[in-house]
Amino acid sequence: MTAEETASALVAEARGLATDAVAALTAADTVAELTAARPDLLGKGAPLTGLRRRVGSLAPEDRPAAGRALSEALAEVAARYEARLDELRAAERRRQLEAERLDLTELPERPPVGRLHVISQTQRRLEDVFCAMGYTVAEGPEIETEWHNFGALNFPPGHPARDMYDTLYVDHGPPGSTLLRTHTSPVQVRVMQRQSPPLYVVAPGRCYRQDTADATHMPVFHQIEGLVVDEGITLGDLAGAIETFTTAYFGPGFTSRLRPSYFPFTEPSAEFDVQRPDGTWLELGGSGMVHPSVLEVCGLDPERWSGFAFGFGIDRLAMLRYSIDDLRDLWTNDSRFLEQF
Ligand code: DAH
Repeated sequence: MTAEETASALVAEARGLATDAVAALTAADTVAELTAARPDLLGKGAPLTGLRRRVGSLAPEDRPAAGRALSEALAEVAARYEARLDELRAAERRRQLEAERLDLTELPERPPVGRLHVISQTQRRLEDVFCAMGYTVAEGPEIETEWHNFGALNFPPGHPARDMYDTLYVDHGPPGSTLLRTHTSPVQVRVMQRQSPPLYVVAPGRCYRQDTADATHMPVFHQIEGLVVDEGITLGDLAGAIETFTTAYFGPGFTSRLRPSYFPFTEPSAEFDVQRPDGTWLELGGSGMVHPSVLEVCGLDPERWSGFAFGFGIDRLAMLRYSIDDLRDLWTNDSRFLEQF
């Protein structure tokens, strides 16, 4: 055998061993199997590595080429080994994730969660709209004095306007002195008594009248009152506030108008209506410029301060907004009805 033949035989053997090694590592199916096979493929005792020892017995001029061929074969096997290792690790990770996957599509049924009553939702939306317009929210008692509910609001005793309010009196103090407030207007009086202008407040809350329950009347209902007192407030400010509220609450395409009316505590007085985009009008509430004698009785100088007030029913607004046709449904608390809002 010539040295020439020995060199080419060595290179051929190296290629064959490399091919075997690549086949073996490709056959390994798990990371464990592959790493266990590593010594036999690339370790000191691996057949391919063993060929290095035989390079020394080749003719000196053949050694560099044979050595390079051997190194290339080893590098090839090492690269294929690393690639296979990456592949098997990724596959195992995928299998693990798949095995640990949680099925979140079938959660146990959640216990029913409550919600705000449609009237509370409506009240909060109204508060939000007025807060955005710079108003704060005030409150007053539902059990009121005759004076706050009527007297201070310019309804003298025996005044016919009192008859419009089917008042429920409370058996407390002198007869007729205590009642369930018939409107939220007494909160105007309380606010003016305890705070000094400028005043920009709304006062939502329950009101009571001696009414027989039917589709459009309830002895308990809700109103929201507005009161603004500042220097130089005019009827134009009232109209502007009503218009701003109308578009903010109902949306663009809605507009408002004031219609002359009468309330003892405002002068002039107006009812205000909202026009829907289809052109139809909806009567919403009462309003007007705070009567000078109301300012005076609350300790404010009408020469310096002027203001406007307005008030309307929250229940009625909710009925219109949600097309509720019987007020009594708001009180029956049938969850099938309430869940719709
Ligand atoms: N309190 C009146 C009512 O219940 C509504 C009302 C009218 C309120 C005019 C006001 C107002 O603040 O200025 O019938």
